[in-house]
Amino acid sequence: MQQLLVTGGAGFIGANFVRYVVQQHPDVNVTVLDKLTYAGNRANLADVLGSQVTLIVGDICDGPLVDRLVQQTDAIVHFAAESHNDRALIDPWPFMQTNIIGTYTLIQAAAKYHKRFHHVSTDEVYGDLPLADDSAEKFKPDSRYQPSSPYAASKASSDMLVRAWVRSFGLQATISNCSNNYGPYQYVEKFIPRQITNIISGIRPKLYGNGQNVRDWIQTADHSTAVWAILTRGRIGETYLIGADGEQTNQAVLEQILTIMGQPASAYDLVRDRPGHDRRYAIDATKLRTELGWRPQYTDFRQGLAATIDWYRTNQSWWQPVKQTVEDGYAKHGQ
Ligand SMILES: NC(=O)c1ccc[n+]([C@@H]2O[C@H](COP(=O)([O-])OP(=O)(O)OC[C@H]3O[C@@H](n4cnc5c(N)ncnc54)[C@H](O)[C@@H]3O)[C@@H](O)[C@H]2O)c1
Repeated sequence: MQQLLVTGGAGFIGANFVRYVVQQHPDVNVTVLDKLTYAGNRANLADVLGSQVTLIVGDICDGPLVDRLVQQTDAIVHFAAESHNDRALIDPWPFMQTNIIGTYTLIQAAAKYHKRFHHVSTDEVYGDLPLADDSAEKFKPDSRYQPSSPYAASKASSDMLVRAWVRSFGLQATISNCSNNYGPYQYVEKFIPRQITNIISGIRPKLYGNGQNVRDWIQTADHSTAVWAILTRGRIGETYLIGADGEQTNQAVLEQILTIMGQPASAYDLVRDRPGHDRRYAIDATKLRTELGWRPQYTDFRQGLAATIDWYRTNQSWWQPVKQTVEDGYAKHGQ
């Protein structure tokens, strides 16, 4: 594989993946196709754009553009998506368009030119689990799809399309469903960067509901190595779950951020919960570990969190310009 097309490569996880490819696989040329929505940022790739990485600003729903780029590549890794649950509750349409029609456009071209396709999805397609006190159950690749939110439903739809194209058109595809990512370059509207940047900005952090919702955190660098393992060694037609056994309540995450940043652990307010807020996500990544030998490198969550806090402290010029707009948006909806 010499030429890789990465959709959404100017977003949080995509940009970290592109950086991983540049560092670990210098023989692979990367073309990023990204619309540069509010979540995409050319600056996320600034230090790697050049001979090995090219950025094409465009829409994955643009059939002729996608057809041309797919024809020229050896493989596609598809990260591009509308990804923020809160936004999907206010205006679901861009999620339907990008996540469903965009994926359809890509797999049509990938099937036509017989190109290897990896589809990046989320554990949210499985809905939620009972809290850990009541159950030790985790998501498995064959768990039932029961998405709770418009975002999760759009991602579930895209997974179904990929599966159908494998069966109907011989698409050479794999799917991964990953748990919640954290790390550098995550847009400040998301839970961890919002809390960190609020504290740096002197804004008192807010926590939805009672803070007992559980998320299974993975450092995004570990997501990158897992996607690479699946892309290069995964079995066609298979689904792999990616997770690093990082279950934490939202309250525990916020309290760790506060204490690492030298604040009292109780220095936050509880706010009205989001409708349909999933209770618990937990990933069973046994298949990925046993079949492909993948292991996460970031197994100490507190250490990973401290490094992420350092990144947001050091890179204030990256997030300061959008911080106020994000907070104004949340304030408008009482959050
Ligand atoms: N963030 C998480 O914790 C998480 C967990 C599991 C899976 N995922 C999945 O990983 C992928 C990346 O997530 P992220 O958090 O980096 O998202 P993000 O919102 O930070 O980035 C998405 C990127 O896609 C681009 N994009 C959006 N619409 C586009 C379009 N129509 N055409 C071309 N580009 C477009 C944006 O400009 C942006 O650069 C998504 O598919 C998401 O569902 C995310």
